[in-house]
Amino acid sequence: MKNIVLTGFMGTGKTAVGKILSQRLGFSLVDVDTEIEREQDTTITDIFKRLGEPVFRDIESAIIKKLSSLKNVVLSTGGGAVLRAENMDALRKNGIIVCLTASPEVILRRTSSNKDRPLLQTDNPLQKINELYTFRKPYYDAADLIIDTDDMSPLQVAEEIIRAIDSKE
Ligand code: S3P
Repeated sequence: MKNIVLTGFMGTGKTAVGKILSQRLGFSLVDVDTEIEREQDTTITDIFKRLGEPVFRDIESAIIKKLSSLKNVVLSTGGGAVLRAENMDALRKNGIIVCLTASPEVILRRTSSNKDRPLLQTDNPLQKINELYTFRKPYYDAADLIIDTDDMSPLQVAEEIIRAIDSKE
């Protein structure tokens, strides 16, 4: 069986769904942001602050290239990983791309209590979410499977992914 690659905007539940999904499938969960922080020995926020987003994207691509050769994993990616074709080409070789979506209001609610997302630390995060989402939508839409998580728990989303994969096999 191929890897499951979770993509989607910040706050769509990739990490929470990834945990349940990996347990259900007997796969390991690999979180790209966690691997970046481990390798760089610092936080995503610090990388954005000290080095800027373009350098973060280069680090992200290098890690994705490395992780995409793993087998039997659920790979949870950061919300901007879809933006580079090289990332998606690498992940697609051995993975099914599953994109989680949510409405901007739900994303705001799910992300507002946490300061770990440098791109949303602005005076008007809802406007920023809308801007980023509009730009990124075509990249998210290129997934093999798209699931709207607005009214679903992480467990329901994980079960829906398993159902959809089973029916495609
Ligand atoms: C980002 C999403 C974050 C993290 C970084 C940039 C983005 O990951 O990679 O802050 O560009 O959408 P999550 O989607 O896991 O929050």
